Amino acid sequence: MAFSRHIIVAMLVCLPFLSGGRELAVKCDYEDHSTGYNHTLARILVEYASAVYISDSTELFTWTCSRCKDMTEGFEMIELIVDVQHCLQAYVGVAPDLNAIVIAFRGTQEHSLQNWIEDLFWKQLDLNYPGMHDAMVHHGFYSAYHNTSIRPGVVNAVQRAWELYGRIGVLVTGHSMGGAMASFCALDLKVNYGANITQLITFGQPRVGNSVFASYFSEHVPATFRITNEHDMVPHLPPYYTYFPQKTYHHFPREVWLYTLGVGSLVYRIEQVCDSSGEDPSCSR
Ligand SMILES: *[C@@H]1O[C@H](CO)[C@@H](O)[C@H](O)[C@H]1NC(C)=O
Ligand SMILES: *[C@@H]1O[C@H](CO)[C@@H](O)[C@H](O)[C@H]1NC(C)=O
Repeated sequence: MAFSRHIIVAMLVCLPFLSGGRELAVKCDYEDHSTGYNHTLARILVEYASAVYISDSTELFTWTCSRCKDMTEGFEMIELIVDVQHCLQAYVGVAPDLNAIVIAFRGTQEHSLQNWIEDLFWKQLDLNYPGMHDAMVHHGFYSAYHNTSIRPGVVNAVQRAWELYGRIGVLVTGHSMGGAMASFCALDLKVNYGANITQLITFGQPRVGNSVFASYFSEHVPATFRITNEHDMVPHLPPYYTYFPQKTYHHFPREVWLYTLGVGSLVYRIEQVCDSSGEDPSCSR
């Protein structure tokens, strides 16, 4: 991105009411009414997405962990789902203040991140998404949700939450590979169980399918926000080639790109809501 554009963005940050655009500093409690992006909700969900990395399951289950405070206080855990064989973890609970079910998925452990990056780079679109002609997805991510003990555990817990609290909406989140699983989960709950997906907010999520899958996805789960941070590598994987869109991976909308812009002692945190293409060239890609 050219430096001159950075300056323009920074000026929009200083003068949000003159910009008419979608670029504002994080310090503003930012809501973009035209897209439904809600900065406060994103801050709450990043806390839920980070809590799922806590390894002490007792602390997690009783919601007494170090990260189980502040904006997530009062969360009522319904089920902690652990698939030891595949090293996967997720939880389902109810946030009374949001009047919603929250589902969070754990991504890959830090030490195996490199394997995932390498795997993602070489892996082809290799699985036809069931019931959707020409929609291809990443076999590994699809299977991590659909072909392990995670899916039955999550679906069962959601149904129990509905019995206890009525058919409240569902918020789904996850980081990295957990974001990919969160996406498959949101689509599954919407299409197969008629859930109202209030929002799906993921952090540093890789691409999971081709452009046919991306449009199928955004049709069913329109309230989707993929948050990317600076130039994190994972959201750029597997690669997208404009000249071969049907055969390669394509992000679904909508990206929200966070980055820091510093000029001398002035440092801005920019939160840029990207266009509805999924592959906004002015955002992190
Ligand atoms: C944004 O989310 C927060 C937390 O859920 C909520 O209190 C607030 O009303 C939301 N804003 C809008 C405009 O929906
Ligand atoms: C699911 O797992 C079973 C048993 O491990 C395997 O035979 C099957 O091919 C897998 N299906 C997918 C879609 O990965």
